[in-house]
This record gives sequence, C-alpha cells and structure tokens, in this order.
Amino acid sequence: MIGRLNHVAIAVKDLAAATKLYRDTLGATVSEALPQPEHGVTVVFVELPNTKVELLEPLGAASPIAKFLEKNADGGIHHVCYEVDDILVSRDHLRAMGARVLGDGNPRIGAHGKPVLFLHPKDFNGTLVELEQA
Ligand code: CO
Repeated sequence: MIGRLNHVAIAVKDLAAATKLYRDTLGATVSEALPQPEHGVTVVFVELPNTKVELLEPLGAASPIAKFLEKNADGGIHHVCYEVDDILVSRDHLRAMGARVLGDGNPRIGAHGKPVLFLHPKDFNGTLVELEQA
C-alpha cells in the first residue's frame, strides 16, 4: 500500500542554524523558510535526489511540535511521510487493521498542497507516520 518515502521531518529549535547546517555543512539544496500558520510550523525543504527532509520550527503558541522539542532539546526526527495512491482507501484499510488515525480522520491539506493523514506513533513502532496522497 505505501509507496515512496516522501519526506522525513526533523523538528528543530533554530531553523536558521539547521538551514545553515544542511546547506553549508552537508552541502544540500535547501528552500527558503516557509511559514505555515495553519500547521503551526515554519518549514524548510531540503531537496535530496531520492526524497526530501523537512526542517520544522515551531510557529505560534499552539505549535504541534512544541512538546516534542521540550522532550528533545537538540531536535529530532518528528515523523516520516509515505505516499499512498488513495488516502481514503488507505485510511479505511488501516482502521480495519486496528491502526489509529489521528484527529477526526478526515485528510487535511498538507505542506505540499496534497491530502495528508497522521497515524498514531504507538501503532507504528514509536514513529509518527504521515500519509500523503501521491
Ligand atoms: Co510531513
């Protein structure tokens, strides 16, 4: 069911420093910072030949990554995103298999303008999983 690894998201406290690290130290191509108030994050996209890394910095008081950064002071891998062909078919299959879909279960439009859902980390080896319709 799952296809390509769309991205790995890394939560960071200092987006400018993380951008510099990926651009200057690791030599990657990175985007400008993109504030996404509706998701409570500012994002930088790191373009790799086979996938992307997204650097996420909290934006606003109710950022969904604020707690994560309290527990992970140096930052850390926040989620992985797999592509699926049909997000509603995938959701229904996962629910039937006993997996918990976060929120109200309705896909939201994610950082790339495509429908996304998140799956409970306790059901996936301690890893928050995002599904994005390809
Ligand atoms: Co993501």
